[in-house]
Amino acid sequence: MSTHVDGSPCRLADLTPDSLRNTVVRKEKLSPVLTLLEINAPLIARSARAGQFVMVWSGEHSERIPLTLSDWNADKGTITIIFQEVGRGTMELGRFDIGQDIPSISGPLGHPTEIENYGTAVVIGGGVGTAIARPVALAMKNAGNHVITIIGAREKSLIILEDEMRAIADEQFITTDDGSYGRKGLVTDALKDIMDAQKVNIVVAIGPLPMMRFVAKTTEPYGVKTIVSLDPIMIDGTGMCGGCRVTVGGKTMFTCVDGPDFDAHQVDWDELKSRKAFYFDEEKAARESLTAGGAK
Ligand code: FES
Repeated sequence: MSTHVDGSPCRLADLTPDSLRNTVVRKEKLSPVLTLLEINAPLIARSARAGQFVMVWSGEHSERIPLTLSDWNADKGTITIIFQEVGRGTMELGRFDIGQDIPSISGPLGHPTEIENYGTAVVIGGGVGTAIARPVALAMKNAGNHVITIIGAREKSLIILEDEMRAIADEQFITTDDGSYGRKGLVTDALKDIMDAQKVNIVVAIGPLPMMRFVAKTTEPYGVKTIVSLDPIMIDGTGMCGGCRVTVGGKTMFTCVDGPDFDAHQVDWDELKSRKAFYFDEEKAARESLTAGGAK
């Protein structure tokens, strides 16, 4: 076995082309629209950190899609992604089964979430964003923070990872828009009550764009540092195509190389909203084509 300069074993030498295949080892339907895939990806699993993402390519006629890591296990050599089947890329990915190989996964990409001992950290997951919030909450906890988690969704069936988040959190709150579970209302209702009751040092929010925008609006008067994980359209994931352009603090940034985390109070939310809306019709057409069995 080859070794590092310090004499420790170099496990890279153990890797064979077969051991690097991105084989699906676990698949779970977390809700009618949310799918979990655990995939063999030993090199990514060894270096992944909270907040980073991978670019997944499902096949010759597919687009590359960015998915932030929900979990990873360096010993097993696997990564876990959780995604909502909302567009062509994610619907195609959802068709992979245990034992099948995903053609290409690259990463980990992006800057990890800045983790330190802030004091009290509120970590908010909205819908599928909870999958990304979990490793952030865990890293915040491991750094010594008092961690408060808020999970929000439209309705009960869309709440995911409740037990996993509770196992990490010092306090946990759940909200649903329709009141079918937890508190009726938005995550920002719970957040406001928390900030009224105690000193909060940082808020990290990951979820749908409107949710993150309103979290930013809610924390601004309190002067609480607020980080959001943005997911605009990404094409190459390398900073070359410009597809993931966002304006933050008046400067143009590329989410794939400068983010995905940004200061929520500095994001140009109107611009981000209109750029996402631009792609909506195209996504809708692709979705309908796939649902009708028209995948090419
Ligand atoms: S995805 Fe192309 S620049 Fe970021």
